[in-house]
Amino acid sequence: MSRPLVADIDLEALRHNYCLARDLAPNSQTVAVIKADAYGHGAVPCARALEDLAPALAVASIEEAAVLRDAGISVPILLLEGIFEPEELEQVDRLGLWMTVHSEWQVEAALSFQPRKPIPTWLKVDSGMHRLGFPPARAETIWWRLQAAPDKVANLHLMSHFATADALQPAYFQQQMRTMTQLSEHLGAPICLANSPATLAWPEAHGSWNRPGVMLYGSDPLEAANDASRALKPVMTLRSRIIAVQELATGEPVGYGGRWKARRPSRIGVVACGYGDGYDRHAIDGTPVLVEGQRTAIAGKVSMDMLTVDITDMPEVGIGSSVVLWGKADNGTLLSIDEVARHCDTISYTLLTGILPRVPRRYQEARA
Ligand SMILES: Cc1ncc(COP(=O)(O)O)c(C=O)c1O
Repeated sequence: MSRPLVADIDLEALRHNYCLARDLAPNSQTVAVIKADAYGHGAVPCARALEDLAPALAVASIEEAAVLRDAGISVPILLLEGIFEPEELEQVDRLGLWMTVHSEWQVEAALSFQPRKPIPTWLKVDSGMHRLGFPPARAETIWWRLQAAPDKVANLHLMSHFATADALQPAYFQQQMRTMTQLSEHLGAPICLANSPATLAWPEAHGSWNRPGVMLYGSDPLEAANDASRALKPVMTLRSRIIAVQELATGEPVGYGGRWKARRPSRIGVVACGYGDGYDRHAIDGTPVLVEGQRTAIAGKVSMDMLTVDITDMPEVGIGSSVVLWGKADNGTLLSIDEVARHCDTISYTLLTGILPRVPRRYQEARA
């Protein structure tokens, strides 16, 4: 028997979540953000599963786009950070990519390069995230410069990113919205603003395009769930098995540092999954885990290849019992990755993108 840890990827759930994002914004087009290997789910299989639904995909670099093109994915691909050096423009042209421009040097490079076909270009505005993009006044000047070069750039859009669209407190989100609404109305420009939280919770942010990422994978980014986010389905189920059982007397510790100690005679299940697989070592005692579809919890520090769970109240559980670290158990019970993330003092994004290559991905194909 091989090591039982596997990440099951439900491509039908991915399509369901994409359709949810799309249907929430009937007047927008929806780019599927599949950067970082589709948030750890595998960019090529996810792109194939979405190809007939999504009018465009988005990634973080030419390298990520080239993997998709090599696999025969032909839909438009947006580079969310554009090029990293001017020489990449030749590949943007050859691979038929769409590009973001967020810096002066990128604008100069784009205007000095003669593509075979004008490159669809999204102008990134810094509306308050203070990460990438031009201040609004500068963006206006650049907008007109790019508009004046129709042989080089095409299909210009304004794009910006929200810092707090997930939060219940709307003030900063609304400030960013005002900035972008004023600019786009002034320029008569189509916009793309909405990430997952804005797609789910802020219809006023829906633009010509939206760019949801994490919700496609079934994670709810909102501080307070809403009806739409509750309809998301988990795409990844991280599953393994119990490979050993320990019987402990009261007071005996488990694992490195003896962080967890038995308060009563206890049974501990040892699960084949550890931080060497990408499971977060910050998981505290009490982090939820499903064993044979029932909730229990981590007991003791996560080690490289294993973690330990309390199975004292599960007499039927033993070596070979099934374990779900997040996702959907065979009996249908769900364990939300967002709940696991809270116990690790992190967000689902880091857990999903952190699953390492040694964990085999097993794909459940979408129904035709
Ligand atoms: C520019 C940009 N757009 C869209 C997204 C998708 O965001 P989310 O996964 O929160 O939907 C990201 C994610 O980091 C991003 O950086």
